[in-house]
Order: sequence, then structure tokens, then C-alpha cells
Amino acid sequence: MLQRNKVFSNPRYLTIKVTFISRDNERTTVDASVGDNLLSVGQAAGMPLEGTCEAQMACSTCHVIVAKEYFAKLPKAREEEEDMLDLAADVQATSRLSCQIDLTDELDGIEVQIPSESYNAQGF
Ligand code: FES
Repeated sequence: MLQRNKVFSNPRYLTIKVTFISRDNERTTVDASVGDNLLSVGQAAGMPLEGTCEAQMACSTCHVIVAKEYFAKLPKAREEEEDMLDLAADVQATSRLSCQIDLTDELDGIEVQIPSESYNAQGF
């Protein structure tokens, strides 16, 4: 019983909702766990997020546009992420690299838009 309570009180096991909005404005809502990486969740949901550099901040194929109210809850982007976003296509004020976002319970209900086009800074 004690073990069970430990599991349910561990934030890692909390489930949150994540909604992806496709280029055609189609909405896909999936369950994710606190601690999951947003890029991995998007890829598992079938979103066209290549993640070519595997989170090394060398591509921008994981670029997403985060809904304003959730963007404000994210930790500030590091300089390397900002530099990579400068090279991304369709960048907006709330753009982020999804590989740099680990989900927290505060982000329950987060909505992210897939940009209209993506650009691979690695050139492949
Ligand atoms: S996967 Fe390349 S920057 Fe995110």
C-alpha cells in the first residue's frame, strides 16, 4: 500500500494533455507524462517533427509554436536555442524547439502549432 501511494504521489507518473495543431489546423490531443520531452511526444503522436539532430540544437526540425499562455510558463530559451530559432522557417514570438521542452504539470493542456514549413540547418 505504501509503495502504491509513493507511485501516485510521484510527479513523474502524472498524466497531462498535450494538443498538437497541424499545418491544416487539425487538432490532435494526446496524454503525456510529466517529465516527457515534447519532441518525443509529438513524434509518437505522428507529428511531422523530424528532430534530425536528436536535441543537439543543430537543426530546428523540431520547431513548434507554443500557445501564448503556455509559452509564459516555459523556462527561458538558452542562447543556443535562440540562435537556432533565428534560422528556423515561420518563426513567431512564441516559437520554441520542442526538443528543449520537458513537460511539467503546469503545462497540462499545452497547445502547440506545427509551423507551416521547417528548415533543416544541417542541410539534409
Ligand atoms: S532536434 Fe534538432 S534542434 Fe531539436
